[in-house]
Amino acid sequence: MRDYREFLKETLIDEDTLQERIAALGAEISREYQGKSLHLICILRGGVMFLTDLMRQISIPHTIDFMAISSYGAGSRRSSGQVRLTMDLKDDIGGRDVLLVEDIVDSGYTLSSILELLTLRKPASLKVCTLLDKAERREVDVPIDYCGFVIPNAFVFGYGLDLDEYYRDLPFIGIVNPERFQPPE
Ligand code: IMP
Repeated sequence: MRDYREFLKETLIDEDTLQERIAALGAEISREYQGKSLHLICILRGGVMFLTDLMRQISIPHTIDFMAISSYGAGSRRSSGQVRLTMDLKDDIGGRDVLLVEDIVDSGYTLSSILELLTLRKPASLKVCTLLDKAERREVDVPIDYCGFVIPNAFVFGYGLDLDEYYRDLPFIGIVNPERFQPPE
């Protein structure tokens, strides 16, 4: 695989800015869930970098779990409104205070489907923390309780987000050069 710089148009959010904002989110979440049984759910694979940094900024005891989903239509990021569960949670969430940790909300269809699915399992509360919000692309209304950054309508990668499964390890968020990489429709 080629060097990421070949695909990078520009850095959108650098490492220091990301970490500073995540520290602030962690502090806010710690305050608001004080005395509760906070349970973080990470959506694989894009949310994994965010989860591991965020949890280190949360000062109250908490637990984590993972689930994986795929949108209908292989290779598609354009959700049809339905998602398929490819890996379920390990633990029951009934009666627990659940915070869903997402990498990015775009049209909102993915998040909407996940929330529908999790609500059926009767958590005590269910909130959403997303690192990135492409607000202007929203097609379905979804509640976002904690948001790292509202970003413009551009395809981004790094810090958990991939280009054909690569570059998730980059410590910053970059905007893809559309002449070098065609984002999935
Ligand atoms: P939505 O259902 O349209 O909100 O899509 C959300 C999903 O699309 C995210 O969880 C990502 O997997 C993917 N996605 C949307 N925009 C981007 C992007 O700019 N870079 C990488 N993945 C993206």
